[in-house]
Amino acid sequence: MDDQQHLLAIKGGNALFEKECRFMLGVARLDQFVTPDRTEIAFAGRSNVGKSSLINALTRRKDMAKASATPGRTQQLNFFDLGDELYLVDLPGYGFASAPDKQVKGWNRLLFQYLQGRPNLRRVYVLIDSRHGIKDKDIEIMDMLDKTAVSYQIVLTKADKVKPTELDKMISSVKEKMSTHAACHPTLLVTSSEKNTGIEDVRASVWELVHS
Ligand code: GTP
Ligand code: MG
Repeated sequence: MDDQQHLLAIKGGNALFEKECRFMLGVARLDQFVTPDRTEIAFAGRSNVGKSSLINALTRRKDMAKASATPGRTQQLNFFDLGDELYLVDLPGYGFASAPDKQVKGWNRLLFQYLQGRPNLRRVYVLIDSRHGIKDKDIEIMDMLDKTAVSYQIVLTKADKVKPTELDKMISSVKEKMSTHAACHPTLLVTSSEKNTGIEDVRASVWELVHS
């Protein structure tokens, strides 16, 4: 993409996320999913990686999605409507070991059912903590998305938590892993919801999806 196209996407993305965003519903069962009548994107990642915080940063709202320092906070699939154009889905985190086993299995099953069977799901943003990198659980999700040919893009979160040299190393190692995954978008997004960096690039990425 050349600079001018990128600028257009940034402007478009900012305008898109200025539209009214409202919480629709939180669901804990497959049969409760919102009717798939428009483009949908979802935010996936390990527990506590910053999914809800990213949705808040994107929508410029402090409390649009419930963020919390307690891992496993988001315990259902939360659907948001952005400007009657797009659904955003805040997913429960995976790999959260301290919740009761049965509960974890239940969430995971729901998460997999959603990711594999959602006809209007255009992209999954797979969030990775800049301090920790890609772990086995992330690879599991990436492999599954590769298999089902669901487009996904990696977003590094909490970039403010690591030194620039460490971040550079992390970016290289994550990019290397990305290159072996068929359905993974080649552009790596690097963000801090805390410092509001890289947020416009995520908006631009979403705008491109909607306008392509
Ligand atoms: P679950 O719903 O439990 O899976 O978590 P989540 O992925 O939605 O994470 P959430 O957004 O709730 O954030 C978890 C914690 O990380 C909170 O204490 C946030 O304030 C913090 N956090 C999120 N993003 C950032 C960031 O960019 N920088 C820093 N420093 N902290 C962040
Ligand atoms: Mg959450």
